[in-house]
Amino acid sequence: MKLFDVYPLYKVTPVSASGITITDDKGEQYLDFYGGHAVISIGHSHPTYVKRLTSQLEKMAFYSNSVANPLQTELAAKLTAMSHCPQYQLFLCNSGAEANENALKLASFHTGKSRVIAFNNSFHGRTSAAVAVTDNPKINAPLNKQHQVTFLDFEDEESLEAELEKGDVCAVILEAIQGVGGLDEPTTSFYKFLADSCKKHNVILIADEVQSGFGRSGKFFAFQHHGIEPDIISMAKGMGNGFPVGGILIHEKIKASFGILGTTFGGNHLACTAVLAVLEVMESEKLISNAAALEAFFREEAAKISQVKKVKGRGLMLGLEFDFEVAPLREKLIYEYHIFTGGAKDKFVLRILPSLGVKRHELQQFFVALKAALS
Ligand SMILES: Cc1ncc(COP(=O)(O)O)c(C=O)c1O
Repeated sequence: MKLFDVYPLYKVTPVSASGITITDDKGEQYLDFYGGHAVISIGHSHPTYVKRLTSQLEKMAFYSNSVANPLQTELAAKLTAMSHCPQYQLFLCNSGAEANENALKLASFHTGKSRVIAFNNSFHGRTSAAVAVTDNPKINAPLNKQHQVTFLDFEDEESLEAELEKGDVCAVILEAIQGVGGLDEPTTSFYKFLADSCKKHNVILIADEVQSGFGRSGKFFAFQHHGIEPDIISMAKGMGNGFPVGGILIHEKIKASFGILGTTFGGNHLACTAVLAVLEVMESEKLISNAAALEAFFREEAAKISQVKKVKGRGLMLGLEFDFEVAPLREKLIYEYHIFTGGAKDKFVLRILPSLGVKRHELQQFFVALKAALS
């Protein structure tokens, strides 16, 4: 059977990995500054993660949400403590798109309305409503285009207010730092205006933290850089360090009732264990402050490279903007210097998303390779 050919592939076949080092099927080593689309948060095959998952697998991998799962309760408590978001409830699912799908559905249930405001250059996933609020007509099928979505620019307060005043909007969804789009972010003053307008018009504010959450920006959630409080927060990627898991934090003002959301696999025993291991390592190794501290070092090093026009992003969710398209540079970095990096919808931006446990000397290795590749 052939694989459905939807992914352009680099000619590298990883077979094992540890920390930020990946080994391929020929025994060649690579440094991973991309984490498989920002997924690797505590490092590949971290020993604590492997130990906890192995021991849970030996006990029990799965049972559905028809019985109590104490691991979910333990996870909710740990998440509350580490995210500093005490007034939220937890619903677990399996991916970023699914998290946003549930967030949008819940906003629609809560308000009884259906139009959504999203932002230009956004990416929220590839399923029904998640792809409809994604600014990319190429990945929206006619089925998805049936959702009612209005796209605005960040900072356009006038249009935002005019749209919310129409009274038919259930949610505004945004990434605090755009990932796939290329690391643009709204200002604090726009974020505050947005949060106030949503409150005024009884519209649900959804913070898509699928990529920027779980410490990646140097705070637990990236919206926390702006001092606002969303109604729903979606999460995935770094949450499971490679185990497929997603979730939403739902403000206590939104009430649950049986059946409005549900999933077979979401919040299973292995998934909860993976997230608990991630949180344990983040706490014990102080990975969030590491991410915040290394941003400054990264910016200093990037400033020494004349071809870098701008450094974008926060923490270890970073982008280097050039005045040329970066696809050939990425190829050179991977094939000649054995460095994994990321691209963006903005073809001039090279994305850097290492494990939050990356060391200063490893970032230095990246810059040595980058300088050589650019010379
Ligand atoms: C901000 C954001 N939201 C949602 C998604 C979709 O996540 P998934 O691929 O797990 O469905 C992504 C994936 O890149 C993302 O960056």
